[in-house]
Amino acid sequence: MSTVLTLSGSPSPDSRTSVLLRHTQEWLVDQEHEVLTLHVRDLPTSALLVANTEHPAIRHALGLVRRADGLIVASPVYRAAYSGLVKAFLDLLPDGALAGKVVAPLATGGTQGHLVAMDYSLRPMLSAMGADNLVPGCFVLDRLIQLAGEGGAMDSSALAAVHVALSQFGAALGARHRLPVVA
Ligand SMILES: Cc1cc2nc3c(=O)[nH]c(=O)nc-3n(C[C@H](O)[C@H](O)[C@H](O)COP(=O)(O)O)c2cc1C
Repeated sequence: MSTVLTLSGSPSPDSRTSVLLRHTQEWLVDQEHEVLTLHVRDLPTSALLVANTEHPAIRHALGLVRRADGLIVASPVYRAAYSGLVKAFLDLLPDGALAGKVVAPLATGGTQGHLVAMDYSLRPMLSAMGADNLVPGCFVLDRLIQLAGEGGAMDSSALAAVHVALSQFGAALGARHRLPVVA
């Protein structure tokens, strides 16, 4: 069992990214991982924007990152990049905070063409932060995620693609716990 932090960078209370993360959390629990959750929008804005890492809520959030073996970083695509909330929170992390952790980016967006935002925006930022075990992750079109109903819903094709991405994430987490064998 590993400990996984799911981080949502959507500012919306009714968020498709959060629906995607809810399915992600269900998958992680099914795989018997411990799941920690962080919605950056719930953090105190004033402390977040002035990088007050002594604020109890920010300290707690940074502690969640430290505890986690793996991170799922989920963002809506905003103006062909990740959201400002994702950036504001990740900028609080000390150098090397993601080193040795398995990290998967997830994104939702309205335009298939902005799938590339994962490659030229979210992934490079995570790499620059020292994420040395970065798995591919997944981009899901917003029209494949429904907000209606309790917890929302996802189209089965999108869910299948997310499960493939999560399987890669789970395999990388498993490999992290296996000791190298010299025979
Ligand atoms: C301010 C704003 C900017 C957006 N910019 C883009 C964009 O550049 N490319 C894109 O594919 N979708 C864009 N979208 C659509 C969102 O990424 C998409 O609807 C996403 O699923 C919203 O996630 P959320 O419900 O979790 O906030 C934008 C939405 C907003 C509100």
